[in-house]
Amino acid sequence: MDPFVEKLENTAAKVREKTDFVPKVALILGSGLNNYADRVETVCEIPYREIPGFPVSTAPGHDGRFILGYVDGVPVIVMKGRIHYYEGYPMSDVVLPVRLMRKLGAEVLLLTNAAGGVNEQFRVGDFMVIRDQITGFVPSPLRDGDWSAYGPVFPDMSNVYDAGLAAKILACGARNGFVLRQGVYLQTSGPQFETKAEIRMFRTLGADAVGMSTAVEAVAAHQMGMKVCGISCITNMACGITDRPLSGAEVNETAERVENDFVRLVTAVIGAVGR
Ligand code: HPA
Repeated sequence: MDPFVEKLENTAAKVREKTDFVPKVALILGSGLNNYADRVETVCEIPYREIPGFPVSTAPGHDGRFILGYVDGVPVIVMKGRIHYYEGYPMSDVVLPVRLMRKLGAEVLLLTNAAGGVNEQFRVGDFMVIRDQITGFVPSPLRDGDWSAYGPVFPDMSNVYDAGLAAKILACGARNGFVLRQGVYLQTSGPQFETKAEIRMFRTLGADAVGMSTAVEAVAAHQMGMKVCGISCITNMACGITDRPLSGAEVNETAERVENDFVRLVTAVIGAVGR
């Protein structure tokens, strides 16, 4: 068997030794949303370190575990502690959790992240519904392994972010009093923030927000036939828009400040996309 596929099968078998729970929605928590796990009516928790071969997140505030349970009656699997490419993992490990959540039965992937605002109309604290993405600055997650049993070898990328789900998120936001932005997310490898010249380039290329995660997860999920949607929290304006140097502290500060709103939005969205 292909070794990458075998690794996925082994991790799925290990999880199935612990629970027969079948999630519908898979949720990946971005910076500042880690406490969202408390909102889940938990059925089972599985720390990554209990799954042999599984990448263990090292980023501060990214305590690695899966939480399986219910949000507003919707069966969910929540990834608390994302695996970032900048931590040194191969891309196949970065997207392994997404593939695992798919194997366990999840049909919808809801991605969240903290991102820098490239679009100058955006404001710090805005939420952006991701409508499309640019992955050209990071390696493809499909490069390693033979994923032909799970979906196309050359998947079409014209609708990575499901338009129907995006419409549901927008409607749900409006119902709950949120003014939501929409735009294109661009992933960099990180961990350094961008230069002013890079941000000018990204804006010219059509990016509205920039971050160090998400897009490769969307590619892997889409290849496996999941419906994908995503929301970025604009935690800072990207390099060069203000004079202030960027820092991880600023990202975390904003994420914490808007956490209650983000939690409320995500809960409403799970109800909307999970039915
Ligand atoms: N750049 C890259 N990643 C980020 C940023 C940023 O400005 N803000 C939060 N994550």
